[in-house]
Amino acid sequence: MKAAMATSTLLFLLLAGAAHGAPEDTTANTIRLPTDGSAQQAPTTKRPWKCCDNIERLPTKTNPPQWRCNDELEPSKCVAQCEVCQEAPGPFPGPLICSDVYWGADPGPFCTPRPWGDCCTNTTCTRSIPPICRCNDKVKKCATACKDCKRVKSSKPPRYVCQDQFTGQPGPKCKHSCEN
Ligand SMILES: *[C@@H]1O[C@H](CO)[C@@H](O)[C@H](O)[C@H]1NC(C)=O
Repeated sequence: MKAAMATSTLLFLLLAGAAHGAPEDTTANTIRLPTDGSAQQAPTTKRPWKCCDNIERLPTKTNPPQWRCNDELEPSKCVAQCEVCQEAPGPFPGPLICSDVYWGADPGPFCTPRPWGDCCTNTTCTRSIPPICRCNDKVKKCATACKDCKRVKSSKPPRYVCQDQFTGQPGPKCKHSCEN
């Protein structure tokens, strides 16, 4: 309810500034809302998502950090779990994302597990959309999701690199790189 009201207020303000005579229902899809606009609501300490594949750590220098999940959501799902749903940047008509900002240490799990686990410090990705990524981190033990775990030649104590590729955003960097 709150989200719907916020959206219609915003639409009203935008429409008030736009050309006259356009039917509301069709223009709603073509209005581009800024992702990092001034209409940012206050961060929440309750994580709005159960899992997220396209997690973004915001450039705010807070401790703990702030996060947004840029996963595209069905409108009904977005409205159900979010304070504010808005269109993601991209070609028309925009998909919806939850623009709520979570302020906390743990951004939660991926919806689709990465072969290297929760985080990776050194990823190499192709420039394709979506990217194809690997994690070059040398770890004591590969994540359970890793299928092709190779020992780094003559590493002592043994260190391993997961050779798997993953199609999609690589996800967050590790907080502590002491494992490498
Ligand atoms: C990341 O991994 C690549 C490939 O193994 C390596 O060439 C590069 O030096 C690494 N970068 C860092 C910062 O460790």
